Amino acid sequence: EDYQLGGFANYMHKEIHEQPEAVRRAVLGRLDERFSTARLGGLHLDARELRSIQSVKVLGCGSAYYAGEIGANLIEEWARIPADAEPASEFRYRNPVIAPDALYIAVSQSGETKDTLAAVQELKRKGGRVIGVVNAPGSAIARECDSGVFLHAGPEVSVASTKAVTNMAVCFAMLGLLLGRVRDLSVSRGGGIVSALDALPQRIGEVLALEDRIAGVAERFSWAVRMFFVGRVWYWPAAREGAQKLKEISYIHAEAYQAAELKHGPLALIDGGMPSVVLVADDELLAKNISTLEQIKARGGPVIAVTSADLPDGLADEVIRLPRSHPELDPIVFTIALQLFAYHLAVGLGKEIDKPRNLAKSVTVE
Ligand code: AGP
Repeated sequence: EDYQLGGFANYMHKEIHEQPEAVRRAVLGRLDERFSTARLGGLHLDARELRSIQSVKVLGCGSAYYAGEIGANLIEEWARIPADAEPASEFRYRNPVIAPDALYIAVSQSGETKDTLAAVQELKRKGGRVIGVVNAPGSAIARECDSGVFLHAGPEVSVASTKAVTNMAVCFAMLGLLLGRVRDLSVSRGGGIVSALDALPQRIGEVLALEDRIAGVAERFSWAVRMFFVGRVWYWPAAREGAQKLKEISYIHAEAYQAAELKHGPLALIDGGMPSVVLVADDELLAKNISTLEQIKARGGPVIAVTSADLPDGLADEVIRLPRSHPELDPIVFTIALQLFAYHLAVGLGKEIDKPRNLAKSVTVE
């Protein structure tokens, strides 16, 4: 075990640090610089079939569902195809309409999650076109979907998923790029995405280099028993994934909210005992996010700003400053910082990191 851990205290920490390499593997041989697109041979869909897709629905559970939300955003933005994500666990129980011109995507690290597998089976029974975005080759979901995109994240041992979630988002990005480039996505915008994906391992490395700083912030918030994670639009799935990581390994009650939703209820919970981790991108919504920070501060809520922007002084108790690389891919970079935050908070509290209570790595029951 010590050998496999390679000097890391646990698998989660090791897997967090493996992410630059995992992303390198995911994009290896799949980025086409000449035509500013992605090559995903396992899809078995030609340009005509790709162009026939009129909507996309991603199905996954837990963190795979949140990665699916990042993916749906990327696909809709770049391919201009309506796309959304839904928990696979609910899908078959609501008698969904299966659209013949839709592409359904089942996303799973293990490929064995019962609820996701059952959603795939329901889709196939009703004639839906479904592909897999899966880490484990030979797994039940990979076999059931006869085409798809493998994550190439390598084995993931920690119950709290890190590198697989990141590679899911990266695979969705390549899929969104491909779907976009057979439609209206320009060569120059496609080229920008190819370059950003190619540079992503380096950006992730820059976040990992902030580990001491992030660990310090986590330590200063080790008193917290509840926490909000706040994100807007692109950063909403990242906020959900951040809350999920913290819940899983620290047992702190963490809830994610869309920034604009705070005033519709959750603001009532803000006080000195409710810290908020607020994701603030350096984008066209910066002014809105600054106003979110002001709303929380005005109610005495401690704020940890995770940001790629230069924020005015006094808006946050702690600032975790992240590199800015690409507007649509930066949520992936933010999730890495949130992994480290959750990890160090849980370590500080002396929690069992790799095998949190009540959870299994792969949920093969309903
Ligand atoms: C992630 O940290 C969780 N342990 C969990 O939500 C997980 O992502 C979910 O159970 C889905 O697993 P899968 O990717 O193997 O299908």
